Amino acid sequence: MSTHPVPVEYARQTNLTEAQYRKLYDRSLRDPTNFWSEMAQKFVTWYKPWDAVLTGSFEKLNMAWFKQGKLNAAYNCLDRHLGTRSKQAAIIWEGDNPDEVRHITYAELYEDVCRFANVLKKQNVKKGDRVCIYMPMVPEVVVVMLACARIGAIHSVVFGGFSPEALESRILDADCHMVITANEGLRGGKVIPLKKNVDEALINCPQVRKVIVIKRTENPVSWQEERDLWYHDLMKTVMPQCPPEMIDSEDSLFVLYTSGSTGKPKGILHTTGGYLVYAAVTHHYVFDYHDGEIYWCTADVGWITGHTYSVYGPLLNGATTLLFEGVPHYPSFSRFWEIIDKHKVNIFYTAPTAIRALRREGDQFLQGTTRESLKLLGTVGEPIGPDVWEWYYSVVGQSRCPVVDTWWQTETGGILISPLPGATPLKAGSAAWPFFGVEPAIVDDHGNEVADDQMGKLIIKKPWPGMMQTIYKNRDRFVAAYFKEFPGNYLTGDDAKRDSSGYYWITGRNDDVLKIAGHRIGTGEVEAALLHNADVSEAAVVAVPDEIKGEAIYAFVTLKVDIKPTEEIKKALIQQVRKSIGAIATLSYVQWADTLPKTRSGKIMRRLLRKIANNDLTELGDTSTLADPQVVDNLIANRLAVEESSRNN
Ligand code: PRX
Repeated sequence: MSTHPVPVEYARQTNLTEAQYRKLYDRSLRDPTNFWSEMAQKFVTWYKPWDAVLTGSFEKLNMAWFKQGKLNAAYNCLDRHLGTRSKQAAIIWEGDNPDEVRHITYAELYEDVCRFANVLKKQNVKKGDRVCIYMPMVPEVVVVMLACARIGAIHSVVFGGFSPEALESRILDADCHMVITANEGLRGGKVIPLKKNVDEALINCPQVRKVIVIKRTENPVSWQEERDLWYHDLMKTVMPQCPPEMIDSEDSLFVLYTSGSTGKPKGILHTTGGYLVYAAVTHHYVFDYHDGEIYWCTADVGWITGHTYSVYGPLLNGATTLLFEGVPHYPSFSRFWEIIDKHKVNIFYTAPTAIRALRREGDQFLQGTTRESLKLLGTVGEPIGPDVWEWYYSVVGQSRCPVVDTWWQTETGGILISPLPGATPLKAGSAAWPFFGVEPAIVDDHGNEVADDQMGKLIIKKPWPGMMQTIYKNRDRFVAAYFKEFPGNYLTGDDAKRDSSGYYWITGRNDDVLKIAGHRIGTGEVEAALLHNADVSEAAVVAVPDEIKGEAIYAFVTLKVDIKPTEEIKKALIQQVRKSIGAIATLSYVQWADTLPKTRSGKIMRRLLRKIANNDLTELGDTSTLADPQVVDNLIANRLAVEESSRNN
């Protein structure tokens, strides 16, 4: 694999050299207390300093960061910048329609956040209450998040692409009493019926007392007088000042749901102090952020990337963050590149799935644009193959912008493994080296570290400030999911190898979590949706490779006796999964199965199904535990060709 030299032009302005990285990294492991203490003082403003930087350990699972420290997230993102940046744009907003653009200064954002914090208070929202946010990518989503943070309420942002059912289960799990939404969203020229979805979700959520609605479009929506309130009406009735609450470092800032390998999505809970320190520090170093730069992360705020690197990281560092409401292909495949030129974007952070889709359309879509403002490119969410990396680096970035391939997770709060621009020689397709304070290891099934270049399970040996606090209301699941397999270590759920130069190569999940177009979906959730259909007796879902989405969903479905497979049933199943989860979870392949391969104790052998779906039949491994070996032969005989012709979408 090639090692790109660091572009010379770039190396002149970097925040860090390779030698400085190595020195700082060593120190961060040797002396984490002083290292993180200095970072916490430099990047965050505290009302009261902490008693201890880190207490507890992975062994005892009682970790706490910056204990007894007091701070406020909104104050750190806004108030403290007002002296120097009040007229600087905090947000540049580009609407779905390219003619709609807004610049919101730090002073304006501050005022709106104060106003909305007062609205929340008037509605009796208190510190520690959970507030559900189901919104499009409009500046108000940032206002609402920071207003929650200002008064110490815990926001729970639910991606606007999730279905009413998925929204309902998240509202119920977090016990939210308020939902903030928009009448409609706009994406790719299409209208998303957000308020209608909320109405549907709330049928089974009687505890929700109020719904606050932002008017994004002029279309009317149904209204419940007792419950629904317009955002713009409420904002007129309140003062533009609201003193920030003093929040404890270990008080939760937000909960964000993500899929696990089993059961319902987990509410990942993040702290205030540790999370903010980590968001600011990683944003500064990984994106080599310099004052005055225009920074654009394309992630929706419904995902962790949107939380940490569209909102908190950049605003903590006083950056101008670009929010984009639309999609990469609307009105044309040039949209990203046009936005970069139009707003002179310096730092651009997106997902491999978007890069693959744009690359497939051809370079002609880049031709009318210069992208000369770019100095850095980033990617996140799934492995980026070397070919796609090369295209991003040489065509999009014209071989002058380093690419930071950042590896992290909802649970980690911020980036754990990534090149640092200017400091790390780049290798196409590798997330390179660990960030400060992060001690990864690759282990075999028994927890022994493997040799260089050997694949194994990626674990993290020591706590870092951005890490999750727990799973909301489910500490047992937190312990079982992340710390049971290798006690004393955090289990990532990813497979990886490390080469002899210390570069990490992360290949993907080793549990039953799928990555469809970078979106995390649990096989269990999809299977539960399939089982809702009265004709279905059993279902098992695995991932197969997809040229654009990275992975696609392949479902094996056994129908009840006497039910004949038909196209109608197949369509109903696809519909059911979309209804339970959302359009991000579309089944690409449905194979009818007379029975599923099971062990004698009745466990479905997913490993075998994965091999069958992927046509990887050379080594089926140990099939001796199968109750009925004939089942496998039948499934192989009826396997669907994983190619465009048999796809459903
Ligand atoms: O499998 C890894 C993959 O995304 C998973 C985490 O998904 P989520 O919690 O949705 O967060 C995504 C954005 C931080 C990981 O377990 N992943 C993330 N980044 C990379 C990656 N896989 C390979 N390379 C990456 N850079």
